[in-house]
Formats: sequence, structure tokens, C-alpha cells
Amino acid sequence: MIEQGAVAFVTGAGSGIGRETALAFSRAGCRVAVTDIDMAAAGETAAAIADGQVLPLKLDVTSEAEVIAAFEAVLSRWGRVDHLFNNAGIRGQACEAHEMSEAEFRRVLDLNVTGAFLCQREALRTMYTAGRGTIVNMASIMGFTTGPGALQYTTSKHAVIGMTKAAAFEAAPRGVRVNAVAPGTTETPLMLAHAGDVQTMRDRYTPAYPMGRLGRPEEIADAVIWLSGSASSFVTGHTLAIDGGYLLR
Ligand SMILES: NC(=O)c1ccc[n+]([C@@H]2O[C@H](COP(=O)([O-])OP(=O)(O)OC[C@H]3O[C@@H](n4cnc5c(N)ncnc54)[C@H](O)[C@@H]3O)[C@@H](O)[C@H]2O)c1
Repeated sequence: MIEQGAVAFVTGAGSGIGRETALAFSRAGCRVAVTDIDMAAAGETAAAIADGQVLPLKLDVTSEAEVIAAFEAVLSRWGRVDHLFNNAGIRGQACEAHEMSEAEFRRVLDLNVTGAFLCQREALRTMYTAGRGTIVNMASIMGFTTGPGALQYTTSKHAVIGMTKAAAFEAAPRGVRVNAVAPGTTETPLMLAHAGDVQTMRDRYTPAYPMGRLGRPEEIADAVIWLSGSASSFVTGHTLAIDGGYLLR
């Protein structure tokens, strides 16, 4: 259960899992800050929220100045941020460790870790003042395990799980909960771009999934809503795998 009129802030909300989760927050009764580096995509998600209150914002999470300005814009519009879904991230180029450039390693860490850190920090500041709030960070099954050619992505998602624990430990006595979700392969534009087309994506990844299928963005959104609401009120520092059994192998 989510308080009606609460304010949710979603990063990378122009596509895939972020978009579905922004829609889910709105259906749950939240006012939603729909942020993305791609303002047109943020605007499209916002337009899909028919009767809810929504604030589309251009936000590149790797820019400290933009992160601070985006939180200020939401606070000035609605006076509160109750829920952060710290979702923006990229997979990076498939490349073995010994061949990876410094630029590629830094690019993925900068977005998936430093960007998430900046958004989490701004959310914690306002949530500590309010004495309540929830943060859900975006990890991945690659935060628990790894695969070929994914050193930078694996490193970044392991870091997100550590960041979630460290923040949750400090935030718990202040009424703020910090958790993470760790999806398995989910059918979004990110994975489509990685695989090339839908059939290649399914053929390549489905055999690793005991359920015999890939995830859907709305299945991740449902978990984010649960971790953001009172139904999970005693859960903090946890990373929830949503992976059709992938990690059981
Ligand atoms: N799809 C999967 O299989 C899967 C699995 C596990 C984890 N994830 C994670 O879920 C998150 C979302 O992935 P998705 O599959 O929905 O991807 P997606 O590509 O469909 O959407 C990502 C969104 O992030 C935005 N974005 C990119 N760089 C940004 C930046 N610097 N600042 C703000 N926004 C930026 C993009 O414009 C896009 O709208 C990522 O962190 C990803 O690592 C995805």
C-alpha cells in the first residue's frame, strides 16, 4: 500500500522498466516525477499518465548539478519526495576484461553507480528532513553473478547492492528504507539493442531461465511498488531478485 498523493521520483523513466514503474506509481495514487536524459521520452511517458499528476523533467543522472536541480524542481512543485526509483542504467558494450578500454569502464560505472549515488544522496537529504521515505535502487542478476563480456556491468551492479546496504544501514534509524531490485533478462529496449531483435534476444537468453521465458517490465514495476509501500515496512537493505529462477541454476 502506498499513501495516496505521495510523490515518486523515477530516473530513466522514458523507456522500459522505468517507464512501466512510473505508470505503476501513478496507478497506485502517486504524483510522479518522470525523469530521463531523453526529454522527449520522458514527455511520452508523462503523456501516457492520463489522469494522474506528473512532472516530466530532463535529467542526466551523471550530472550532479542536474540531479540537484531536478530534486529542487520536484520539491518546489510538490514539497516532498517520498519514493525514489533509482533506475537509469546502461549495459555497456560486450567486451572481455583484458580488452576493455578505461573509457568504457568509466562510462558504465559513472552512470550505473555514480549517477545512482547522486540521486540516492539527494533523496536521502529530503527524506531525512521528512523522517520517512523509500528508495529502490536498480541492481541486476549481474549484481550476484556474471556472464561473458560484462565486467563493467557486473562491477557496477555489485556496487549498487553494496551501496544499497550501506545507505540502508544509516537510514534505518531515520525512518527511511533502502532496497534494490535485481531483474533477470527483461524484454525492454535495452536488451533488444543488446541482442539485435526480439527473436535473437529470446533464443539467446531464455534457455538460462527455469521458467522458460524472459521477464516483463511490469513484473519489475510490481516489485518496486511493493518495496516502496507499507506492505514491505520491515524490509530494508535487501536486494530482491526477480528472475524466473535464473539464480537457482
Ligand atoms: N532489461 C533488462 O534485462 C535488465 C535486467 C536487469 C537490470 N536492468 C536495469 O534496469 C535499468 C533500466 O533498464 P531498461 O532495460 O528499462 O533500459 P531502457 O534502455 O529501456 O531504459 C533506460 C532509460 O534510461 C535512460 N538513460 C540513459 N542514460 C541516462 C542518464 N545518463 N541519465 C538518465 N537517464 C538515462 C534512457 O534514455 C532510457 O529511457 C538499468 O539500470 C538496467 O541496468 C535491466
